[in-house]
Amino acid sequence: MVETMRWEDGKLILLDQTLLPQKKEFITCENYIRVRAAIKKLEVRGAPAIGAAAAFGMVLAAKEASNRPAFIETLARMRDDLISARPTAVNLAWAANKLFALAEQRNKEEVAPYKIVGELEQMAKQIYEDDIAINHRMGEFGAEVVPENAVILTHCNAGALATCGWGTALGVVREAHKQGKVAMVYSDETRPLLQGARLTAFELCEDNIPVTCITDNMAAWTMKTKGINFVVVGADRIAANGDTANKIGTYGVALAAKAHGIPFYIAAPVSTFDFSITDGSQIPIEERKGEEVKQFRSEVTAPAKALTFNPSFDVTPNELITGIITEHGILRAPYTESIEKLKKLTVNS
Ligand code: MRU
Repeated sequence: MVETMRWEDGKLILLDQTLLPQKKEFITCENYIRVRAAIKKLEVRGAPAIGAAAAFGMVLAAKEASNRPAFIETLARMRDDLISARPTAVNLAWAANKLFALAEQRNKEEVAPYKIVGELEQMAKQIYEDDIAINHRMGEFGAEVVPENAVILTHCNAGALATCGWGTALGVVREAHKQGKVAMVYSDETRPLLQGARLTAFELCEDNIPVTCITDNMAAWTMKTKGINFVVVGADRIAANGDTANKIGTYGVALAAKAHGIPFYIAAPVSTFDFSITDGSQIPIEERKGEEVKQFRSEVTAPAKALTFNPSFDVTPNELITGIITEHGILRAPYTESIEKLKKLTVNS
């Protein structure tokens, strides 16, 4: 399986996802500014992957801050800078804040900054390892609801590339494939940056899982004509009522699935839940440059004078979601109750 990132000799090595599938090149991040730039440019992307990258980014930041007079204040500024790279995926803030809380606590206890850096490094490595284990657990829970002879549709990339390994939605697909249940996976192209065509299809081909590429506007017709019987996607932020932000186009897929009576599942770890917001209207939606819409790669495809609207994510209302697959099991409606139970179970762990 493809490797998204690794921590080597105190540096973060990232697979440059903007070049896939044509080229497999790695980027070496020696400081947090380079990690921030990689997150911003989508060289690393996908909610859990940017969370883990941010954790390693915090280790690099702490190393830099440990040579400055105001260690914790400097680290706080660097954390805010990292978090500002992308607004929607809550895993980024989750990971950066988790490392910052440890640094702040140990600093209050008057532990030397260089020792704190070592402890942060351990925590970041743990986040990385845990993410892979969590994805396997989600995969096992999710595979239980995948039907035999599954014809699955997915959107964007919620695979090994979007995580530290195995994947969330693609973790479910991988586990179901191991169990012999998967007849075909339809991968939406995912305009404008083609995460579905470039990344999901790439991962599935590498693992010999049957995949068919479609453009986004083919999803509803494919559901009607190709026997899709299961939809699974990832998430960037889930509100306390189950409303879920994911890659732009997910909402349309959920509406089409509902119209065709096809189960629509989200697969996401607890770190993607934002228990502090009551519904999806409070999720900040990243808007990106208009060029992504008016160009196909560098090829101009629309008049220069035309305006653009380029939200990177949309919010699927909870009533369209059949279940949310987590590492603690599958949550069902009413989500306000099942998510409250999840919060109680996990908030201090
Ligand atoms: O803009 P991206 O490529 O970072 O968007 C990624 C997605 O929307 C994924 O579906 C989501 O982060 C879940 S990844 C396990």
